[in-house]
This record gives sequence, C-alpha cells and structure tokens, in this order.
Amino acid sequence: MFIQHPHDHLFHLLSLAVHTVALTTLGWRDDWPSTPDGNQYDGKNLLTLVRDGKSPFQEIWDVNLLIQEIEEHTDTQVIDILVVDKGSNNYGFHIKNFKGPDMIARLARSDVNMPDFDGFPIETQAREAIFEAAVYNLLHQLATIRASLFHYNPPPNFTTRYFLSRVFEFMPESLSLPIAPTREFWMHVMESKINATIRNEGDMIGWKDDNETVGPAALAAKRSLLRALPHIMPLEQTEPCLYRFVLEHGDFGIHNTTIKHLTDEKPLVTSLYDWKTGCIVPAILSDPSVAVSPVDLITSKNGEPSVTRLPEDATPSDLETYAVWARHYIEVRLFSTPIL
Ligand SMILES: *[C@@H]1O[C@H](CO)[C@@H](O)[C@H](O)[C@H]1NC(C)=O
Ligand SMILES: *[C@@H]1O[C@H](CO)[C@@H](O)[C@H](O)[C@H]1NC(C)=O
Ligand SMILES: *[C@@H]1O[C@H](CO)[C@@H](O)[C@H](O)[C@H]1NC(C)=O
Ligand SMILES: *[C@@H]1O[C@H](CO)[C@@H](O)[C@H](O)[C@H]1NC(C)=O
Repeated sequence: MFIQHPHDHLFHLLSLAVHTVALTTLGWRDDWPSTPDGNQYDGKNLLTLVRDGKSPFQEIWDVNLLIQEIEEHTDTQVIDILVVDKGSNNYGFHIKNFKGPDMIARLARSDVNMPDFDGFPIETQAREAIFEAAVYNLLHQLATIRASLFHYNPPPNFTTRYFLSRVFEFMPESLSLPIAPTREFWMHVMESKINATIRNEGDMIGWKDDNETVGPAALAAKRSLLRALPHIMPLEQTEPCLYRFVLEHGDFGIHNTTIKHLTDEKPLVTSLYDWKTGCIVPAILSDPSVAVSPVDLITSKNGEPSVTRLPEDATPSDLETYAVWARHYIEVRLFSTPIL
C-alpha cells in the first residue's frame, strides 16, 4: 500500500505478523537527518519529537501521514515508535500498537516524483509490491500448513510400519524397544544411532568412499556421546508432548507445494508434495525451516527468526526483505503452534 505526502514520497507500509507489504525504490535518496547540535539523529523518541513539532524529518516528509496510513490500514493505534533506522533504500520503523503485535513499517527513502528520480517507475514498484504481498500470503499459509502437520498425530500402524525404514543412515536393522512416543524410546533410538554410526575399533565408519575406520578418537567420541545423551534429552513432561511423533516433510519449500489463485487474487497453498525426505521425529526435534528460494527461513540457536543460504550477491535491501520474511513466517507458525 502506498500514499503520497505533500512532498510526494512513496510510502510503503508493511506489518510483520498480519497485514500487508512493501517494496524498495532505487535512485535518489533522502539524507539521514542531523540534530540541531550537528550529530546524526539516533532514531529514538520519534513520536514525542513529532508531537512537539520537532520531527527530524520535517523538512522532507510528514511522519504524521505515515502514522495515519498505518492506523487506517491496520485498524489499530500507534502508541510508540521505538526506533527508526535506515537501510540503503528504505527507512524501517519499529512500531508499537495499542492492540496486536509490533509492526515494522518500511518507507522508501526516494521520491518517485523528484525531477531527477532514477529509480523504477511507479508502475514497476506497484507490481513488485503486489508480488511481495503475494509471497507473504504464501508464507502465511505455508506456515499454517507447517503448523498443522506439527499438530498431526500419525496413526500408530503407520508409525510402526515406517518408522525404522525412514531413519537416515546409520541405524541398526531392528530396535529392541517397541515404538512409542516416549523419552525412553527416543533415548533408545539415539543410542542405537550412535552405536550404528561408530561401531567397534577397526570397523568402517562413514560412507564407503571415505574409506575410514573407527580409531581411538572415534571410540572416545562415542563414549562421550552415550554419556551425554541422558543429560541432553529433556525429562518427560506429564503428557508425552516433547516426544510425541511428528511426521516431518524434511523439505518444506514453495517448489513442493500446489498453489491456487483464487478470485480475490490471493494465492492459496493447497498441497504439499514430494515426501522423499519424509521421516518421523520427536516433536522436540521437529525442524521449523522452510525453503522459499533463494533463502531458507529458520530459527537461530536462540529461537529467533533467521535466514540461511543467502545468495552471495544479496543486497542490503534483499537482506532486509529476507529478515522480514523470516519474522513473518516464524510468527505465523508460532501463533498456530502450541508451546512445547
Ligand atoms: C492402518 O490402519 C487403518 C485402519 O485399520 C488402515 O486403513 C490403514 O491402511 C493402515 N495403515 C497402514 C500403513 O498399515
Ligand atoms: C550402545 O553401545 C553401548 C556400548 O557398547 C551399549 O552399552 C548399549 O547397550 C548400546 N545401546 C544400544 C541401544 O544398542
Ligand atoms: C583404504 O585405506 C587403506 C588404509 O589406509 C588403504 O590401504 C586402501 O588402499 C584404501 N582403499 C581405497 C579404495 O582407497
Ligand atoms: C520438491 O523439491 C525437490 C528438491 O528441490 C525437487 O527435487 C522436487 O522435484 C520437488 N517436487 C516437486 C513436486 O516440485
């Protein structure tokens, strides 16, 4: 969505968790404002400054119009702007609302109607903004499908039949405990996997092509892993929640989905294909990553939205877009998934 303010800036607004979208402009850009003492504006207290008639941006564009547009389109009230920062093409505003989640609003730093504007024409930008909105919709639904699958309890006969054959190398041919969604069972699986991967001194280890055998270092590693295991695996809760079986697709990506375009032009993810990397995991090891080309959306080791497989030529504004995708995806998925 965009509106134009008296100086004809193009406003882009996007919200992280629920609403709409934005895109980037290139070319001429506003300079970052300085404070009266000549320092760079630190991006803080924007709302207070605006209300006191001291907006750092007042020479160039009107912050009130941005707030007005946000409120109109998100049916909430902006109560604070925690910080404003800039990338090479856009400003980013971290906004607190009266109700609902925080939002990031993105505003182009270039003015489509400047005489020397050398960025993309408005038609191109609009087309791109519409595409970006469509991608958010896809991610939203993919995240929902992802969350539904996380909730799904595969029937016991399915699990019994396919569990072992879907465990990737290396694994013994049989297990000595019955398949059950318990810590005891998963401890047994992990131990069996360690034992099958690092067998006895002199046995082959790794892939055939590696032509490696187990030596003292691998044996020591095996002993440490076996000792560590009971300390790594969390204790069972009252319900078998952490160790519940989850059917894992293993390759969540838009390329593996069927997407339908409905009459209101919103794309709808209807199916998820290609289960060749599918397996059954304990809920605690269910992997939230999703491939959306060119990047994978993941959670960092601290459980925060993050991105991997970045293309080498990603621009700062690409990085900004991918970061927003990751936040959007992880939040949708989290909101539709119970806390473990
Ligand atoms: C599991 O049991 C159901 C109901 O008896 C049956 O329809 C289904 O084919 C079985 N699935 C497998 C994998 O054996
Ligand atoms: C794994 O190997 C250790 C050490 O050889 C043994 O004590 C343990 O029973 C084995 N566990 C399984 C599940 O095979
Ligand atoms: C595998 O390693 C052994 C011992 O280092 C060596 O004698 C043998 O030629 C190797 N085989 C291959 C196929 O590389
Ligand atoms: C799903 O993704 C995999 C890996 O990229 C690919 O090999 C496969 O062809 C895709 N399947 C479909 C149905 O698009």
